[in-house]
Amino acid sequence: MANIPLAQVFLNDEIRQSVAAVIESGRYILSGECQAFEEELAAYTGTRHAVLSSSWTASVSLLLEVMGLNPGDEVLVPSHTAFPTVEPIIHVGAKPVFVDVGDTYCMDPDQLRESLSSRTVGILPVHLYGHPADMEAITKFADSHGLWVLEDCAQAQGAFCRGSRVGSMGLAGGFSFYPSKNLTVLGDGGCICTNDDGLAEGVRMLRNHGRKSKFTHEKVGYNLRFNEIQAAAGRVALRYLDQLNEHRRAVAQRYGERLEGKVELPPVRPWAEPVYHMYVIRTKRRDALADHLQGQGIATGIHYPVANHQQPAITGRYPDLPTLPNTEAWVDQILSLPIHGQMPLEDVDRVCDAIAIFLD
Ligand SMILES: Cc1ncc(COP(=O)(O)O)c(C=O)c1O
Repeated sequence: MANIPLAQVFLNDEIRQSVAAVIESGRYILSGECQAFEEELAAYTGTRHAVLSSSWTASVSLLLEVMGLNPGDEVLVPSHTAFPTVEPIIHVGAKPVFVDVGDTYCMDPDQLRESLSSRTVGILPVHLYGHPADMEAITKFADSHGLWVLEDCAQAQGAFCRGSRVGSMGLAGGFSFYPSKNLTVLGDGGCICTNDDGLAEGVRMLRNHGRKSKFTHEKVGYNLRFNEIQAAAGRVALRYLDQLNEHRRAVAQRYGERLEGKVELPPVRPWAEPVYHMYVIRTKRRDALADHLQGQGIATGIHYPVANHQQPAITGRYPDLPTLPNTEAWVDQILSLPIHGQMPLEDVDRVCDAIAIFLD
């Protein structure tokens, strides 16, 4: 029997043909394909602008630089997320203040007040595993304290929160096209989406050596541009994104039906339309279950085994780190099961059969 991978990149003949056409075009960086991809990403998200860059991390680092954060500024951010979520905050000299998550694994809005200080300038919620964070509660809190909100949409492209697309509700949203993500581009890539003309213009300049025109440099910038080949691939993949996300929901539904009552399932809020970047269960016998599944040729993952407020890069830097009960308890119990936009439902059944044998 074939092995079952944890994730799989979407690739078809349309992508191969669009890439071949760019190879022949002789234009490889920030040209027509990138421009069209930006327009299509903005339209899909429901924002005025999308600005491509070489990754989520690059995009959000540029964004925070344009926003002009000051040393000592504090940003409220969940600890239970990919480490890159906190890197841009630190790179611009600000401080991440870690907040616990609720049972959807997203930032718990009820924990925000406790972490607020006179130095807090913004909130960076993460739509983790494809389930939107509670943006209504978070933006209400932010508005009442004069804070901005940036959405980490790296794992949630296409998800809705109370009818709004993720990435359209805060000051800006950051997206990743890394090969495991819901929308992929045959390599690294990312973008920000925003309705703010100044932020979009600023990121556009900084990603390309601070240029406004070919030989006029308004800022000292970087080379964090995007590529035509990848934009062409991404444009095709974007046309399939809703279909792929719909299939992820069908996979999640099958897991839910088969695993109900056996392990802790990922909860879904009634106001959320998730896109299941990952399907994460919880069990106290996590490591033994992962070993058992590996023995059956079934890949699993742990996202993430070490909480960010306990990472060496963080504990060595900040003396006053909080205790986060949910995050700290769940890192030892979470297990990501295989899921992707083209996963056969027979494979889902194979995973569930293997789990049932383990639990018997
Ligand atoms: C939640 C989250 N934020 C940020 C990132 C960083 O994305 P990138 O690899 O495109 O920089 C990732 C991807 O690893 C992620 O999952």
